[in-house]
Amino acid sequence: MTTPKPSPKPSPKRQREARPSATKKHKRPQRKAPNPPSSWNPSIVVFACNWCSYAGADTAGVSRIQHQPHFRMIRVMCSGRIQPGFVLRAFEKGADGVLVSGCHFGDCHYIFGNERAVEQFEKTMNVVKLLGLEEGRLRLEWISAAEGARFAQVINEFTDQVRELGPSPLADKRQTG
Ligand code: FES
Repeated sequence: MTTPKPSPKPSPKRQREARPSATKKHKRPQRKAPNPPSSWNPSIVVFACNWCSYAGADTAGVSRIQHQPHFRMIRVMCSGRIQPGFVLRAFEKGADGVLVSGCHFGDCHYIFGNERAVEQFEKTMNVVKLLGLEEGRLRLEWISAAEGARFAQVINEFTDQVRELGPSPLADKRQTG
């Protein structure tokens, strides 16, 4: 009587072929390469009226609401004071974006100052476009003293918008001092 021969052990290669699902299952997931970090941050100037928008920024700070920090505030008594020359000077001095902000309609402490601000803003926008700057570099917003969260949201949105546009084309004409 002959004893049956044990079946030959399959080679490791054959074992892998026999279990395709097992090899797929244990395959390491491919990691996506992270986007390169953006080292550039825009330089933004915010003109804010004393009674509403500046106080709104203060409310954001007091409430510890996080927002992007790449801006400088210039306080004026009323948004109606913000003439085209102020904004153009900011661009000339190296701003990549300018935000003009004041009280909501009906809340201006000088009655119709923010209506005047709208007229000034439209004139300013026309000059900005003539200079070849993108419209997205200039923005007008109404922010009340109680709207700290809104201030933070506007700053974050505007900073991202200007970051996407990139450095101002006037950058090479920047002056120092
Ligand atoms: S006081 Fe705020 S817009 Fe006039």
